[in-house]
Amino acid sequence: MRQRNKPWAKEKLADYPQYVIGSPDQWKGKWHEVFEKKQPLHIEIGTGKGRFISGMAKANPMINYIGIELQDSVIVTALDRIIEEELPNVKLMNVDANNLPTFFEKGEVDRVYLNFSDPWPKTRHAKRRLTYKTFLEIYEDILVDQGEIHFKTDNQGLFEYSLTSFSEYGMLLKYVSLDLHTSNFEGNIMTEYEEKFSNKGNRIYRCEAQYR
Ligand SMILES: C[S@@+](CC[C@H](N)C(=O)[O-])C[C@H]1O[C@@H](n2cnc3c(N)ncnc32)[C@H](O)[C@@H]1O
Repeated sequence: MRQRNKPWAKEKLADYPQYVIGSPDQWKGKWHEVFEKKQPLHIEIGTGKGRFISGMAKANPMINYIGIELQDSVIVTALDRIIEEELPNVKLMNVDANNLPTFFEKGEVDRVYLNFSDPWPKTRHAKRRLTYKTFLEIYEDILVDQGEIHFKTDNQGLFEYSLTSFSEYGMLLKYVSLDLHTSNFEGNIMTEYEEKFSNKGNRIYRCEAQYR
């Protein structure tokens, strides 16, 4: 997601410690203390402007959510949504997903969402794809046993690559959809990219991959 530089973004994120977790390593092993209620924890990696994570938090008050995003100039828009909606069950982290095991204990996360991850189409950049095997190791490190990744994209190449990557890792593939918006999947919450690309006529691919 390319974004205008917003030099004030870091400062704004720091102004809302109730929503943006400033030193996430201090909560390793005790994330439930950060939320009002002790309940399952789902994280979205590459949360962008936060439409999905805030929509999910509103629709599922019995789940706690954390949106994780590398770019401060992007996540600051997610913060605006959360401030406006005053949601108690969603927090944000402005960090790199490569460092997730520094922030979460094994088994502390119940589900990972990856939505419209950057495709990195060149083979020499494959290691940067959020479904590359080193990322699958990272997610396995923090997820519960038999934890799941729920993945959506409009990019056919990334989808095919990811199905192979999940499968080669030994994961169980479930609910593979080659056209989410005409499927019978219920309760889909659109992301910013999903709306943009489906409006252009792109099909949306979705799958769930479970560790075993
Ligand atoms: C193409 S955008 C999609 C945003 C949003 N999920 C959506 O569907 O509208 C991908 C986002 O992932 C973020 N991202 C990429 N690699 C990341 C990483 N290693 N850790 C955290 N965020 C990352 C990027 O900064 C970007 O905002």
